[in-house]
Amino acid sequence: MFELIDQLEKNQILSKEELSHLLNHYDSEMSQYLFAKARAVSQKYYGNTVFRRGLIEFTNYCKNDCYYCGIRASNRQAVRYRLSKEEILSCCDTGYNLGFRTFVLQGGEDLHYSDEEICSIILSIKEKFPECAVTLSIGEKSYESYKKYFESGADRYLLRHETSNPDHYNKLHPTNLTISKRKKCLEDLKNIGYQVGTGFMVGSPYQRTEDIVEDLLFIKEFSPAMIGVGPFIPHHQTPFAKEMAGTLELTLFVIGLLRLMNPNALIPATTALGTIDPNGRELGILSGANVVMPNLSPVTVRKNYELYDNKICTGDEAAECKVCLDSRMNRIGYEIVVDRGDFVEI
Ligand code: SAM
Ligand code: FES
Repeated sequence: MFELIDQLEKNQILSKEELSHLLNHYDSEMSQYLFAKARAVSQKYYGNTVFRRGLIEFTNYCKNDCYYCGIRASNRQAVRYRLSKEEILSCCDTGYNLGFRTFVLQGGEDLHYSDEEICSIILSIKEKFPECAVTLSIGEKSYESYKKYFESGADRYLLRHETSNPDHYNKLHPTNLTISKRKKCLEDLKNIGYQVGTGFMVGSPYQRTEDIVEDLLFIKEFSPAMIGVGPFIPHHQTPFAKEMAGTLELTLFVIGLLRLMNPNALIPATTALGTIDPNGRELGILSGANVVMPNLSPVTVRKNYELYDNKICTGDEAAECKVCLDSRMNRIGYEIVVDRGDFVEI
């Protein structure tokens, strides 16, 4: 088993059976072995630095109905909101003064915003903060729309593939959403020239070890700049309210494997990881992650962007989150830097 991890470290591709074996039989000793190697690889490319992205959750309206998601269209109890361009710029202003150099605009698939409005928001951010990167995470759009956003200055795009297995995908989404459409979007984004991020939830309902193996291999093949993985956490107003959350141990193990398989990728220690364990984000970094994504959304709306139950940091001002995360990273020997944190090609 340890030699399988050594092989991954040497950039050898493991078979499906070998990856399944690792995922089915890892224990704490093997996890620590993996994490030490994953940290070393991350440090080789990025040193002891952690990059910070400011997450601006600018709308929680969504036309989609993903079964796992707290802001799905059918959740009539969700309190809906949208931020105006001025409010978004004010979040960026606050973030810039705190040392943020990447802003992530995330939202549901909200039909209220035309392409022109999205482009105008991107242009305004780029005009005011030319040295900052803009990342979009607003779901599935046409090639033409993605291209317009890119030409307006968007640098990166996050679109998790959620699961590579079509049957599993259909168990997590209604029939109008398909994995082939999702993958087509990812290809479009890459062809246009974005730094693209993809990923999946660990422990989502019906997920089998084989599915995680397919996800690892899909990501290796797609070779994204960014990889977001976090535990699935149930939301009480969704069809998956009674399902189990993904575990800390498996999520960390998957992060470690992803780091060895994608040595230079940007991998966040997600808010969901910090939600299932008070030290989740620190443990994520110590397993090979190198990015944190604190929230820059106004405190007045944060509770309403409730993708899952008990989401952390919904009551804290941006400045408090900055101080808290800085000290959390310092305690484990890492430093959050003032930097766009672009992908390093090798
Ligand atoms: N609408 C955009 C999209 O579909 O990519 C971005 C917003 S969506 C809420 C962002 C991510 O949140 C999803 O890709 C999903 O993996 C994650 N997410 C949603 N519900 C979750 C849950 N219950 N637990 C953990 N992660 C969740
Ligand atoms: Fe659209 Fe979750 S269902 S953002």
